[in-house]
Amino acid sequence: MTAAANELKPVLVFDSGIGGLTVLREARVLMPERGFIYIADDAGFPYGSWEEPALRERIVDLFAKLLGQYDPEVCIIACNTAFTLAGADLRAAFPQMTFIGTVPAIKPAAERTRSGLVSVLATPGTVKRAYTRDLIQSFATQCHVRLVGSQDLARLAEAYIRGDVVSDEAVMAEIEQCFVEMDGRKTDIVVLACTHYPFMANIFRRLAPWPVDWLDPAEAIARRARSLVPQVADAVHPDNFDFAVFTSGAPDFPTRRLMQGFGLKA
Ligand code: DGL
Repeated sequence: MTAAANELKPVLVFDSGIGGLTVLREARVLMPERGFIYIADDAGFPYGSWEEPALRERIVDLFAKLLGQYDPEVCIIACNTAFTLAGADLRAAFPQMTFIGTVPAIKPAAERTRSGLVSVLATPGTVKRAYTRDLIQSFATQCHVRLVGSQDLARLAEAYIRGDVVSDEAVMAEIEQCFVEMDGRKTDIVVLACTHYPFMANIFRRLAPWPVDWLDPAEAIARRARSLVPQVADAVHPDNFDFAVFTSGAPDFPTRRLMQGFGLKA
């Protein structure tokens, strides 16, 4: 299917896997008149462990094809690992396209924390990015920010959302570093800096040694996208349009079922 069948251009939402669905679900609420195309670069998943130059090249090459094929109104890069690395390259390579990015919500966390102890839970890629260090330097020098790079959580989230059993021990091993006690103060905000993680927020809440605010940026990203996508009077969502594309070409049955649950053909 191409965008040509639509009066309005669609919104393209991109992630390495299924994490971007946490952003898509908010974006659809705010832009009900737009068709949506969800792209999962599952052939490259997980992005968290890639070397930076190779991943940057992969993403820019992929977008050269995607933009030609689907001609979207805007692209939402619903992936911290991708955007903190290749956001500037995408904007430079395709200056006519609007890219809405996803970056660790360090600024809002620094504004909201009462204890001054904030943790950022992300992939190893996002944790080591200069972009992430710059966000801390620009907005959170008054806080103690702990960066927690999780090797396995994106993969665990994929398994969990497809219906597999994920053990509490495995999840706890990935999140326990987020909880810091210092001078009688405790971490009060954990930034979910990977779009896969909000799917597991209920488990995180149950396992947390004390209650914290788990900051999910999905709604803010959707609001930003809405502000950049023109509202067209009387436009209605194109019938039966929304679909998902997997770069592997072969999503398994649980993944296709998941996509259907999100109203996407796959
Ligand atoms: N969902 C992606 C993010 O927001 C990363 C998952 C991966 O490791 O590919 O960072």
